[in-house]
Amino acid sequence: PAAPVTAPDIMARKGQDKICCITAYDYSSGMIADGAGVDIVLVGDSLAMVVLGHEDTLSVTMDEMVHHTLAASRGVKRALLVADMPFMSFCTVERALKNAGRLMAQGRARAVKLEGGVAVAPQIRALVEAGVPVMGHVGLTPQHIARFGGFKAQGKSAEAARALIDDAQAVEEAGAFSVVLEAMPVECAQLITEALTIPTIGIGAGEVTDGQILVYHDVLGLFDRFVPRFVRCYAELGEASRQALAQYCDDVRRGRFPGDKNTLYMPEDQVAQVRK
Ligand code: KIV
Ligand code: NA
Repeated sequence: PAAPVTAPDIMARKGQDKICCITAYDYSSGMIADGAGVDIVLVGDSLAMVVLGHEDTLSVTMDEMVHHTLAASRGVKRALLVADMPFMSFCTVERALKNAGRLMAQGRARAVKLEGGVAVAPQIRALVEAGVPVMGHVGLTPQHIARFGGFKAQGKSAEAARALIDDAQAVEEAGAFSVVLEAMPVECAQLITEALTIPTIGIGAGEVTDGQILVYHDVLGLFDRFVPRFVRCYAELGEASRQALAQYCDDVRRGRFPGDKNTLYMPEDQVAQVRK
């Protein structure tokens, strides 16, 4: 088996090959993602929306993140497993240390991701000093939708772009090994990618970043409540699954399942004996 990907491996990829990242939330999705050869598997707090059915990412708990990270860890052998720190789990340095410790020790993550720039630099620095590799996340940070007024692209004006560059730079200076750039104009993502020495991982930030990340359920057509325009859907597994299950129901109702192949038979002499 290939050697596991480490945070320094990801850093070394800047300016080399593109870094491929996807989310996953349990053993089977982690195993599928790992088998496909992705470099980073993120147990995103998008768990809240695509797996738990919440409206946004705010209500997923630390216990849920630990539970799903541990499940994913059993399926991910090669990729770097990163766990998202949920809303309010890193609002002080102390809480960040305690909760990242849980994601690493109990969830078996090998790095954490947290949203924010300048405002969370002290937390990032403390985590890195404690031995936790940190991935930053700037731009449209979904934990801030109440402040943004919805899922809205960021950095569209010169002033807003300048603020995002400052945020990304603060994340790098605090010691992060990479940073997610979410939902921003490609020019802004390009400026950040050029300014930083750590890799940028884009989602809705154009082709200029050092890597890309998407949500598992979006890529596979498993979540259709809303699909942002930056998503490319590579399979319609939601529809394929509905059709497969409808076929199964039909077979059961018509007595076509189980068939001979699915059925266990006794040896003939034993049937004769048991009937006596
Ligand atoms: O939670 C998530 O899925 C994410 C990625 C989309 C970056 O944060
Ligand atoms: Na997230």
